[in-house]
Amino acid sequence: MHTHGDRHRCLVNSKDSEKITPGSRSAGVVHRGRRWFSRTSRSPEGLGAEARQSRGEDTSHSPGFTRTPIPPRHVHAKHGSGMLRSVFRCLGTNPVVGRRSMSQSSLAGKVAIVTASTDGIGLAAAQALGKRGAHVVVSSRRQANVDKAVALLQSHSIQVTGTTCNVGKAEDREKLLQTTLDQCGGVDILVSNAAVNPFFGNIMESTQDVWDKILSVNVTSAFLMTKLVVPHMVKRGGGNVVFVSSVAGYQPMQALSPYSVSKTALLGLTRALAPELAQDNIRVNCVAPGVIKTRFSSALWGNEDIVDEFKKQLSIKRIGEPEEVGGVIAFLCSEEASYITGETVTVTGGIGCRL
Ligand SMILES: NC(=O)c1ccc[n+]([C@@H]2O[C@H](COP(=O)([O-])OP(=O)(O)OC[C@H]3O[C@@H](n4cnc5c(N)ncnc54)[C@H](OP(=O)(O)O)[C@@H]3O)[C@@H](O)[C@H]2O)c1
Repeated sequence: MHTHGDRHRCLVNSKDSEKITPGSRSAGVVHRGRRWFSRTSRSPEGLGAEARQSRGEDTSHSPGFTRTPIPPRHVHAKHGSGMLRSVFRCLGTNPVVGRRSMSQSSLAGKVAIVTASTDGIGLAAAQALGKRGAHVVVSSRRQANVDKAVALLQSHSIQVTGTTCNVGKAEDREKLLQTTLDQCGGVDILVSNAAVNPFFGNIMESTQDVWDKILSVNVTSAFLMTKLVVPHMVKRGGGNVVFVSSVAGYQPMQALSPYSVSKTALLGLTRALAPELAQDNIRVNCVAPGVIKTRFSSALWGNEDIVDEFKKQLSIKRIGEPEEVGGVIAFLCSEEASYITGETVTVTGGIGCRL
């Protein structure tokens, strides 16, 4: 039987030069993060809200939605277009509208657990949540990776706590929750991101060991982690759960069938949990990434022939970046997504995987 490490390496390119480490990717993440902020914080009011957040002030109670008046049909076209122009001017400068967009994406005061978050999509999700003001709790199996991720996030002024957690172990999941409660006083967000793929080949050659491992880490642990945190979300009046599935959950990838099936199960878990937890004001959503440039998928994007073939299926002809998934996860956890639950957002560059 393989060790866990051996199994995990099945999808990892052996060329060290092509591996991505948190350090090597950080420059891209930060750069993109800054661009995001400058694009969305154009108005002086928006910048003010951002500054208030960085000082630790809660901006989440800023005035809410105001309806922009629509000119009645009978208004003369000339006057109507003048009115429309003023409406657009108002949208650009109205301080209430400016504050609204900032406060709805703000996660100030929230506590977010992201599993498997010392690299790749998990780290990018932690960064996106942290940039919106959440205190993020990062974890993975190896202490050295946790330390690196904590240092990286702290260097971007993100409030962060780190601990080791192998999501496949009950005692580790409990420790992750307890550390969060001890250090942050509660939990509002769970991003369940961990997955393994110990098998590459024909489905009929996969063994029970393979299935047990994949289903236990990728599906059962995701559910059990949710079950652990929900009572604490209820105490806070609600929360958000986001599962990280895969495009393979819609269309099984050749040679990755057991893994694909586990990702299909997460689509079902999202749908099953959403109605039950809605009564506790907890939204449950899912993201299904396509091929994203991380260590996990380096066997795919590290091979030029595979990439060229794969690009034919894409509308956006490039491999995705982790922060392009992280931002969607943060959106799903924000007030901007307040009417979305039981949903899976595909982040694939346009792969046609569903209607
Ligand atoms: N990359 C893609 O193309 C792609 C596409 C679709 C879906 N996804 C999904 O996205 C998620 C993240 O993948 P990724 O590509 O970001 O991977 P990645 O860059 O290789 O990062 C994996 C992270 O998971 C941690 N980890 C691995 N096994 C763990 C376990 N049992 N318990 C806790 N932490 C664990 C690793 O740290 P340690 O080694 O320290 O534990 C690392 O921080 C997975 O659910 C994957 O299925 C990825």
